[in-house]
Amino acid sequence: MKVRRVVVALAGVFGILWSSPSDARQTPTFTKDVAPILYKNCSQCHRPDEVAPMSLMTYEEVRPWARSIKSKVLKKEMPPWGVGESSLKFSNDRQMSEKEIDTLVSWVDAGAPKGNDADLPASPTYPGGWKFNREPDVVITMPVEFRIEPRSEYPMLDFYVPVPWTDGMKLIQMSEARPSNKAVVHHITVSLVTFPPGTEVIDGQPFTTDASGKKVPLDRRAARITEQRLPTELQIPREPGEKPDRLGSVGGFTTLLAYVAGRGFDDHPDGVGTPVLPGQYINFNMHYTPTGRVETDRSEVGFWFAREPLKKFHFRTPINERQHVNGKIVRGPVPDAADVEAGRVSQGATAATISAFSGLPPIPPYESNFTVTSELTITQDITINGFYPHMHVRGKSAEYKVVYPDGKEQLLFDVPRYRFDWQERYVLAEPLKIPKGSMLKYKGVFDNSANNPLNPNPDKEVYWSEQSWDEMSLGWIEYTLDKQKLPASTERREQ
Ligand code: HEC
Repeated sequence: MKVRRVVVALAGVFGILWSSPSDARQTPTFTKDVAPILYKNCSQCHRPDEVAPMSLMTYEEVRPWARSIKSKVLKKEMPPWGVGESSLKFSNDRQMSEKEIDTLVSWVDAGAPKGNDADLPASPTYPGGWKFNREPDVVITMPVEFRIEPRSEYPMLDFYVPVPWTDGMKLIQMSEARPSNKAVVHHITVSLVTFPPGTEVIDGQPFTTDASGKKVPLDRRAARITEQRLPTELQIPREPGEKPDRLGSVGGFTTLLAYVAGRGFDDHPDGVGTPVLPGQYINFNMHYTPTGRVETDRSEVGFWFAREPLKKFHFRTPINERQHVNGKIVRGPVPDAADVEAGRVSQGATAATISAFSGLPPIPPYESNFTVTSELTITQDITINGFYPHMHVRGKSAEYKVVYPDGKEQLLFDVPRYRFDWQERYVLAEPLKIPKGSMLKYKGVFDNSANNPLNPNPDKEVYWSEQSWDEMSLGWIEYTLDKQKLPASTERREQ
């Protein structure tokens, strides 16, 4: 008798252990187990007024989606993440742990119970709706509210706003662009422009004075050549006799960030950012798509400045020298930076240089595996912080490689299923040093066949253009120059 009672008592003890809260067999509840996972992995997109079609913040919002959530997380379609094979780690990697996936799946399998209200953690906050966890240092709004007519087609439109601060150079470490009307904004490119002296900007449009004293619209292309003469703050000091190279030229026209649905923010390491000076202009390059109703939009961009100590300028460039198509070389290097700086050629100024900079050989109709490989020789030591592969609706896959000076080739990462609707930037968790003498390679593969569901026109030859129904092949890298050292703030003020 005595013995038996002990056994029963022990079973009781184990019974308590088996049902303890830390046991995986315990049914997960929304408030206790599921909400923290959704807040961490889904809420940045699945909240009101964000890119995803529904909010997943409350039990009432999540419950109807339970089965769909299970299927999407099991197939790893949600959260979206493009990297396949990789020798790198990314700070913005959205993949969930197997444990998180298991918890979501067993919660759905158990009938998606709510649990105790008291268990619910505080929901994440997004101050002012911005992606980064604080309000921006400055917000710049388009100078006019633009009216989009129901049945017009719009070319890219440019609006300019003067840099609103007067106290010297700032480095923009983070930025986010936000349309006021998401329904009509297809994309926004935010850039920095330096206009020639004497330019006047009225209602967001630049004017100059002609020989007879009349105000006339400024020809932007003519303006860009003078942009090559940069203020000293923006120049990277060179050793005597050292030639300028494209990796170290800031240029008079700098893209800050691009907004498309799902992406419209950029961030760089601490102390690193795009240099901006009072006197320059913020350029909103807008692409509107009418909805069939009269619409208006006044987009805005928020900037967060790098804090002291400032370290380095952020640079970005596409890998775009020596292009091969399906293995055959199709063109040589882009214009020499020395020629650009001397005004002998101007990047972006002529049709020839535009095509050298961004060109893409025509993609034949029905071709399902059109492969463009581009190379870039690294002419000084750099450190890469991120990547941004860019193609349009025919983009199929992308790949970055490096060939080190000793000839060793290494895969950096690939994106096996490129998605046009996810213009993803891949931000490195650890910066990657690329020594002088290396070569970077970017491969973009295009599917112009009828099997590509996004392809609007498989029987057409496709050319390079900004429009999403045409194509681009740009493997961007984001980097800093190892040799650059910014003066401390006191030295800067004395300059
Ligand atoms: C980076 C933004 C982003 C993140 C993070 C994200 N989603 Fe999504 N999700 C989207 C977008 C956009 C769509 C609609 C387009 C699509 O399906 O790609 C979507 C669609 C879905 C759908 C299908 C909706 C439908 O109409 O069938 C489900 C379910 C879903 N997400 C669940 C989740 C869950 C669960 C998480 C977190 C574990 C998550 N998502 C994280 C952006 C995101």
